[in-house]
Amino acid sequence: MRKIPFLSAVLALFGLSACNPEVNPNAYLTADGVAVFVPEGFDASAHLPSPIFLENLNPMGNIPGGWDIVPEFCTEDGKSVVRIHVGDADLYGTGEVWGPLRRNGDKNIFWNRDNGAYGAHEGKMLYQTHPWILGLRKDGSAFGIIFDNTWRSELQCDSLVTYYSDGPACRVVVIQKENPAEVLKALASLSGTMELPPLWALGYQQCRFSYYPDTRVKEVADEFRNRNIPCDVIWMDIHYMDGYRIFTFDPERFPDPAGLNDYLHQKNFKSVYMIDPGAKVDSTYFVDVQGLENDYFVHDANGKPFSGNMWPGDTHWPDFSMPEVRNWWAGLYKDFMAQGVDGVWNDVNEPAVFGGGDEMTMPDDNIHRGGDGRTAGNHVRYHNMYGYDMVRATRQGMLQANPDKRPFVLSRAGMLGQQRYAATWTGDNSSTVEHMKGSIAMTLNMGLSGQAFNGPDIGGFLENTTPDLLADWTSQGVYFPFVRNHSCEGTIDQEPWAFGPEVEAICREAINRRYMFLPYIYTLFREASVSGLPVMRPAFWADFKDLSLRSEQHVFLLGDDLMIVPRFAEKTSARPKGDWKLVTFDVEDDGRQALVYLRDGAIVPMGKVIQNTEEYTTDTLTLLVNLDENGQASGMLYVDAGDGFGYKKGEYALYRFTAIQENGEVSVKTELVEGKALSQKEMELNVKVL
Ligand code: NOJ
Repeated sequence: MRKIPFLSAVLALFGLSACNPEVNPNAYLTADGVAVFVPEGFDASAHLPSPIFLENLNPMGNIPGGWDIVPEFCTEDGKSVVRIHVGDADLYGTGEVWGPLRRNGDKNIFWNRDNGAYGAHEGKMLYQTHPWILGLRKDGSAFGIIFDNTWRSELQCDSLVTYYSDGPACRVVVIQKENPAEVLKALASLSGTMELPPLWALGYQQCRFSYYPDTRVKEVADEFRNRNIPCDVIWMDIHYMDGYRIFTFDPERFPDPAGLNDYLHQKNFKSVYMIDPGAKVDSTYFVDVQGLENDYFVHDANGKPFSGNMWPGDTHWPDFSMPEVRNWWAGLYKDFMAQGVDGVWNDVNEPAVFGGGDEMTMPDDNIHRGGDGRTAGNHVRYHNMYGYDMVRATRQGMLQANPDKRPFVLSRAGMLGQQRYAATWTGDNSSTVEHMKGSIAMTLNMGLSGQAFNGPDIGGFLENTTPDLLADWTSQGVYFPFVRNHSCEGTIDQEPWAFGPEVEAICREAINRRYMFLPYIYTLFREASVSGLPVMRPAFWADFKDLSLRSEQHVFLLGDDLMIVPRFAEKTSARPKGDWKLVTFDVEDDGRQALVYLRDGAIVPMGKVIQNTEEYTTDTLTLLVNLDENGQASGMLYVDAGDGFGYKKGEYALYRFTAIQENGEVSVKTELVEGKALSQKEMELNVKVL
């Protein structure tokens, strides 16, 4: 593990830097409010093309006078160091980390790591790398900082931000805008957004390590339908494979995968199957044979295929840095998806290696051969990109296999830029109240780092959950972007019904609400896919100037219009000002559901309770209305086929609802603002004024 040099740490405490900054790094503007700082002697071959950016960062002019976020570059103890004075700004983002929402005084270690219970390095070194800070000044103006680097690195967030890298000096990109929303939009225009997921991926999902054999999978699916608990997806973890061989099915446990998937489809479920990166070393196994024949596996320092220990025993890892390997990998999905597989879960792609040293991965001197303009490099450079390169190949393969379906890929490891290819979750958390509460800040900061589609294992993964924890976590978790209950092998059952009728009823009601809010949530996902704004937003999003909200990390917003108050935070949280109104439901309050408030001036479209997204319709909606002080409110609704790419050819509708109160009567107008009406029927709208 790398260490911050002692002298630097002491000087940083006093806002000082240990080495002289270069006076003139090469700096230029690449877009309005976006500056690129290139260190002297920048070695492009060690960094470019960058995985973070969609395009080259071409110069368009000089940096305007008064630009106050300026990196200083230097070298210390063999590390490349960047220091940036950010004054008294509040800092957020920094990707996946266990810690507070407000990142000041905290650190990240960017070395993607299998980190069960976030126990190693105090949770500062997790599965993903987003060398990115969102800064919010006291006046509400904002900036973003991107360290354009994949090498092992460390970020310390203080008034003097310090970034240490094991690689050669990297470029730093600084965004300055009038508020955080504009900064995130600028990040998205540089780094891309999530592609619109299929609607089913926004539903409730049930997972376990692992449901097997296939009869157990069917049983779980049947339970959801028999008990009227809405659910869209059942997940297959590693036990479906034949001896942990990826792209195979266990002949005894899963003798007829196509039949199983048909069964699930008939009941309106989708299936997601795990595919790990490593291929079992086995001369009779097609993936290993093809990989060896074509020299597709990562090399050790001697230029031989590296092997290490993973689930299947001795394992080879594809070198996803190579374009030909990504093409091969993409091609492997054709037959696999043809079994009726709907989504793919790429796990352990840090890559995790059992027994792989302190950080459970490959040796630093392993070689990745690169291509497409990237030079060959060692693992210290390529490690943090491994998952990224894997999932872009996976997405490509899914599209090749099913060109008319929107791919859904879930990845454990990640890198800034990866939002373009995969959703993510926060890895192996624990079934503890602390992890339940902390999952809110984690999910929020991922959203503030460009990764809108993410969430934790609801109920907690490691250790046994408890009835209370499952009830409480589900009650708040249904408002997260990604909603999946998952638990580890060897723990007790964690399905919504596992603890008897009381907890089951609480979970059912929470999940019902997820489905009722889907018209609004889908509209938010569409917005995120276009603009890069997060789906789940911190409380401070309601007012960028309200300093009392800057550290609030339990109450959160879903879009701009709904405020979610988990029951545990009812009495202790800071709330945005305004006339937020409590949303009421047609059932008696069980005392556990998160409270949902509607912003004044907002309209949120709600549907009926449905059991899965196949039943989803926007033909009949309830519009929740909270009029502002002028007696007005407005809201949006996005509608499309829920899957496929028709929306890219205009097959969608974006509506605006406007409510106005006159003479005590509220009337609502519906306007089509983009796309075209998809249904011949007029929407039936019931207006509920709060
Ligand atoms: C590690 C993942 O984080 C976890 O979700 C999964 O259940 C296990 N691998 C087994 O595949």
